Amino acid sequence: MKRPVWIDSDAGIDDAMALLLATRLKDIELVGASAVAGNAVLDRTFRNVRDVLALAGRSDIPVFKGAEKPWIVPLATAPDAHGEDGLGGAVLPASPAKEETETAWDMLYEAACRYPHELTVVAIGPLTNIATAIVTYPDLAGLLKEVAIMGGAIIGGNRTPCAEFNILADPHAAQCVFKSGIPIAMFGLDVTHQMSLSEQEIEEIARTSSAGELLRTANAYIIPLYMRNGHGRQVFMHDSCPVMYLQYPELFKGKKAGVNVETRSGPGMGKTVSDLYVYADQLPLKNVTVMLEGDRDRMAALVKELLAEI
Ligand code: RIB
Ligand code: CA
Repeated sequence: MKRPVWIDSDAGIDDAMALLLATRLKDIELVGASAVAGNAVLDRTFRNVRDVLALAGRSDIPVFKGAEKPWIVPLATAPDAHGEDGLGGAVLPASPAKEETETAWDMLYEAACRYPHELTVVAIGPLTNIATAIVTYPDLAGLLKEVAIMGGAIIGGNRTPCAEFNILADPHAAQCVFKSGIPIAMFGLDVTHQMSLSEQEIEEIARTSSAGELLRTANAYIIPLYMRNGHGRQVFMHDSCPVMYLQYPELFKGKKAGVNVETRSGPGMGKTVSDLYVYADQLPLKNVTVMLEGDRDRMAALVKELLAEI
């Protein structure tokens, strides 16, 4: 039996690579996907998730629309990083699949009931949809096997000095997910900033994958942002980390800890506060495995192999 997986995304340039990879992992079955507003507005992220899955030949995977804005804070998209269209200007053929009309949280719950205690959720955007599902269906938290999240940073941030984009985008929803008690694998900037690809590696991948044009165009769009932030001519495989973890957990090392999210307005908003580096037990829940190390070279080699299959 393949591992049932649901992927929730604000597709997004790095989301696109993660979605493509998710369709190539032989031990997982993508039973559903959903779109959330984040990098771009919901209509765009919904279209992008559908079209990227179709590009990988998987227009059969149902994609559902979720939240068009965060729970409390205003929507703040990232056109500087992903473009208004969310894919850095890359143009994809439209998915032939009919547009689903049910909501993301209703269908996520339906999938959790279909696969009780087996369904893994991969959340690679703001956590609005996942949190809405948790509060709408109080038994959902007890039905999920795990939530693998790209988000947060125990040290540092990328949207502010102490907040990572996905968590800052909806800190109240993120706090709900972290406090739900669901086992969480957290891929924050602590590890995703180790998982880079050079321009040359992107070009090698683009040359050997039928998704090459998407990967070349989209990543060319985001590289100047990374350069402005002092990272050099490279990209980070942020969202591919929780996806690759599903099939290759040995790529990563982490530690169990508690994580809370700062939801108060101010310079600390969106901070993932953890007791990882303190000795006293300060946070009651230790439901989060905070990933701290990743094998970049091995992951880059696997990513090239898997994308060449498309
Ligand atoms: O901070 C990186 C995260 O924010 C990634 O998920 C990227 O797609 C953006 O949503
Ligand atoms: Ca994302």
